[in-house]
Amino acid sequence: MAKISNGAIDKKDHSNGNNKKDTLAIEEFAADRQGFLTKILTDFEDHLIERTRHFLGYHVNLDFNHLMDLSPLLRFHINNVGDPFKDSNFGLHSKRFEVSVLDWFAQLWEIEKDESWGYVTNGGTEGNFQGLLLGRELLPDGMLYTSRESHYSIFKAARMFRMDCVIIRTVTTGEIDYSDLREKLCLNKDKPAIINLNIGTTFKGGFDNLDLVIKTLEECGFSNDRFYIHCDAALYGLASPFLDEQGPIFSFKKSIGSVSVSGHKLLCSSMPCGVHMTRKKYITAISKSIEYINTLDNTISGSRNGHASIFMWYSLNVKGRLGLQQDVKKCLMNAQYLRDRLKDEGISSMLNEMSFVVVFERPPNREFIKHWNLSCEGNMTHVVVMPHVTVKMLEDFVNDFVREKNIWYGCGQIQPPCLAEEIGTSNCCCSIHGKRGLQNGK
Ligand SMILES: Cc1ncc(COP(=O)(O)O)c(C=O)c1O
Repeated sequence: MAKISNGAIDKKDHSNGNNKKDTLAIEEFAADRQGFLTKILTDFEDHLIERTRHFLGYHVNLDFNHLMDLSPLLRFHINNVGDPFKDSNFGLHSKRFEVSVLDWFAQLWEIEKDESWGYVTNGGTEGNFQGLLLGRELLPDGMLYTSRESHYSIFKAARMFRMDCVIIRTVTTGEIDYSDLREKLCLNKDKPAIINLNIGTTFKGGFDNLDLVIKTLEECGFSNDRFYIHCDAALYGLASPFLDEQGPIFSFKKSIGSVSVSGHKLLCSSMPCGVHMTRKKYITAISKSIEYINTLDNTISGSRNGHASIFMWYSLNVKGRLGLQQDVKKCLMNAQYLRDRLKDEGISSMLNEMSFVVVFERPPNREFIKHWNLSCEGNMTHVVVMPHVTVKMLEDFVNDFVREKNIWYGCGQIQPPCLAEEIGTSNCCCSIHGKRGLQNGK
């Protein structure tokens, strides 16, 4: 949120509004209350429009003008408290829409409707909590295995549910290191394994290979009833069937226990949301009948956002499977375009296969990072090429980066960072590895 001074928002300020002086006071004021409020809100809208134009660093699809059609529903409280498949005394709900969304995902992830159970969550994080809670309830003395590049929600869940967590090394792409997984599984053969599988890591978009993980479990002596796999598919859960010609990168046809996807990522939604799905036979492990709501409580949240189900239902219907496939194709092509442009400009960068996330050298300037809404980790930053990101936006970004780079590094006092360890020597254009590349004729 931008700075507020005399009721106005400074549109050029990209601060996040975390400073005390930036907060909007709820005030008693006598004259023209409505005019004052309208001014604050229209200025804030302008600020959001400006931020949207430069939104490159996070996994959110901002292409959702069609959701304006649903604005009349904002007059209603809609709350899907409890099990989506069971009615309750709470009449203001949208469970019909929620079940329709769940049926769609059941088909996408290859599980029969009547063998699946799920719900529309508040986002990927909640879906991960639900998946790991189920794993722990089904295998109470199980140990959680997850790669070090997993989303922070996984480590938070391990703390919340007091699970022993074994952290597995990763390779340069961000994918799990199977030899490290094997070694650590073998050390703990006496305890069941709860695995968090990354269907696209947050920062690098690295994919853990489901078949290889199941093979490793079997080779280490873990039978089907002694492991539980939760798939964290926050970004790619919806894209999975369209990424690999060989078939979907995960599916309930294989030995997985649950999946979590975010609804505001590839699909799009103006509010955070997502889907969690599991096998119906597992949900009884956490279901409890609650008289007060006259239904089953088996979701992490009690009150649940009923608008989110309608938003997801509407977007899925407006886009259709074909529209989603086209979005995926566009994101993959634009991500390759960005990677190539950065490489052409001598900027260290990496793009994994099937990924929308282009990782490259972190700009040394905070204002630049804020201007383009970039997220950073160590010496790296990334652009997540979502459906709202156009070639023109990418071109403007690269031109801005190159222009600024001459200022940051022009006088030779500081050098661009070396990313050989993070993204591999062949992707690194630093003064050592870049020169070697030139010598090799690259
Ligand atoms: C791999 C992964 N898991 C989980 C999440 C959390 O999703 P949400 O922000 O919807 O809670 C993210 C978010 O970026 C993610 O990348």
